[in-house]
Amino acid sequence: MKNIYCISTVLIAVSICLVWSATNVTPSEQCEGQNFEGLRERIQVIPCTKKGCRLRKGTNTTVIFKFKPKHEVTTLINDVYAIVAGLPLPFLGVTGVSACPQVTRSSDGSPAPCPLAAGEEYTYSNVFPIESFYPNVDLRVHWALLDGKKNVICFEVPAVITPAKKH
Ligand SMILES: *[C@@H]1O[C@H](CO)[C@@H](O)[C@H](O)[C@H]1NC(C)=O
Repeated sequence: MKNIYCISTVLIAVSICLVWSATNVTPSEQCEGQNFEGLRERIQVIPCTKKGCRLRKGTNTTVIFKFKPKHEVTTLINDVYAIVAGLPLPFLGVTGVSACPQVTRSSDGSPAPCPLAAGEEYTYSNVFPIESFYPNVDLRVHWALLDGKKNVICFEVPAVITPAKKH
């Protein structure tokens, strides 16, 4: 009896995990020359699915990720651009701007004004609109947080911009 209980608990847990991973895995990839551990577990771009990111015009995209600085970070700058046909197009209003206001402590969700401590886990979250004037193209979103010239975290996500829903 006890075994049956255990087995069904495991099965339920496994199926919850499967549903979770199918809907919440963002197909994030390493930036060139970088190697951050557990990238896929740490990065979530909504509404991405395992199959990819379809970013519909007139909707918002949410980016949430966890990172752990190896050294104390005094300045943290968003370095965000779309790579379209091999060309980097900066996300105006995001790139070059301080990322500190978007950072909270993972432990309790409290705001984490810079400087950030080495070895502590932080959560970054940001929301940006998919503007109607964006072209319908395949692109790669390149998202990095820079401390000086160093990447504190960096990832790329393949995406496609799709037309707005017809009314
Ligand atoms: C997108 O986010 C902005 C700012 O948070 C909000 O004002 C707007 O209503 C959102 N748009 C959609 C389509 O959810």
